[in-house]
Amino acid sequence: MKLWDGRFTKATDSMTDHFNSSLSFDYRMYKQDIKGSMAHVKMLGQQGIISLSDSEQIQQGLTDLLNDIQTGKVSLDQDSEDIHMLIETLLTQRIGDVAKKLHTGRSRNDQVAVDMRLYLKDEIVDIKKLILELLQSIYNIAEKNKETFLPGYTHLQRAQPISLAHHMMAYFEMFTRDYRRFSFARDMADSMPLGAGALATTTYSLDRKLTAELLGFKSICQNSLDAVSDRDFCLDFLYSCASLAMHLSRFSEEIIIFNSHEFKFIELDDAYSTGSSIMPQKKNPDIAELVRGKSGRVYGNLVTLLTVLKGLPLAYNKDMQEDKEAVFDSLDTIKMALPIFTKMLSTITFNKQRMYEAAVGGFTNATDAADYLVKNGVAFRDAHNIIGRLVLLCTNNNYTLESLPLEEYQKISDVFKDDIYDAISIKKCVLDRKVTGGPAPEAVDKHLELARLMLLSEQGLVE
Ligand code: ARG
Repeated sequence: MKLWDGRFTKATDSMTDHFNSSLSFDYRMYKQDIKGSMAHVKMLGQQGIISLSDSEQIQQGLTDLLNDIQTGKVSLDQDSEDIHMLIETLLTQRIGDVAKKLHTGRSRNDQVAVDMRLYLKDEIVDIKKLILELLQSIYNIAEKNKETFLPGYTHLQRAQPISLAHHMMAYFEMFTRDYRRFSFARDMADSMPLGAGALATTTYSLDRKLTAELLGFKSICQNSLDAVSDRDFCLDFLYSCASLAMHLSRFSEEIIIFNSHEFKFIELDDAYSTGSSIMPQKKNPDIAELVRGKSGRVYGNLVTLLTVLKGLPLAYNKDMQEDKEAVFDSLDTIKMALPIFTKMLSTITFNKQRMYEAAVGGFTNATDAADYLVKNGVAFRDAHNIIGRLVLLCTNNNYTLESLPLEEYQKISDVFKDDIYDAISIKKCVLDRKVTGGPAPEAVDKHLELARLMLLSEQGLVE
């Protein structure tokens, strides 16, 4: 028997039931579904739409049901169309006919919308905490490595020397933006759709503000058609996940490259590496690779929902049931990938010597050599050309700019004096880049201070 079978003259085909059912994935919203019902039925009682005693009886039944589900006394692994139908059926089995009043002035269309919003609001809090843990671990590495030098890259070619702290804090910025995106997505979910009914509200005098207050929503949805057909808050969530996955993937890519024998800038902890079944020497960065790989499904989920929604006329259409697997998959993927990534990152050993050698041996100070000439009166374009010729000379004769004898410098330009060696020391190149946002320890310190304050306030604030 179905809760809606009054107008039907025969049973649905079992294939219809199977195809139509969302219980296998929406069961996880049972808590939000019950909480939504509790608020709704409390409001019905207070408005005199049902009697106070009926309202209290239903609320008590829902409380007990929630308890029994949470303690495993009631299983959700049952035959039902969706979690909303199942909860109502279970409630009716327990408290009898009074349960039939629960759905007064409500539709599954506004019910599923409120469940999704409540569910995401809860989950985003968890994700934000996980991002803060990652940010903290990035911060910790940066703080200890203000004078750990390595080449900065463009085109994956050694470009200019930077510090590991500066490099790390670039990721701090990326993940801070993700953090803010999730706050925005949570805000977008923070509007209450109940009262919209199926599409056009109801004739009962519902107090939507009261329901919103009981459920902890900041505002209420202002148009009933939009309230039941809006999944933009899911899209905002999915985009936040996609952006976060993209940043994790970029970071992973760098970890994989830096961990290679060719670079040897870092070594991954054994606990977060894996071996090969055939090659005994192998220690593979599988965790970073998997995090990189999982960005694919997270992007896919965003495109899935955009595509599902793009042709839908107002208001609710069953297509919208397809929002859930996309949202849940991105959520699960992020919740799995983020904490292990943080652990892997915080246990990395940095090979400071290798990094330094790469910075010294890679002409990363060539710009500084040109700037030396500029500071001594040479026009930048001419200086660029002179240093270019010197680099070619070094490359052909196995020198670095540091080891090239002064006579060779002076053969190309008599502006060079022996203070050139000091001007191009890697340490000086980094320490002199004091511009806000730059790699000099004093510039990084300013960024670290802002980061510290942000972490402090958010770690205290995150709900
Ligand atoms: N399982 C449905 C969903 O996830 C619930 C809403 C069903 N509404 C309806 N009118 N069939 O979207």
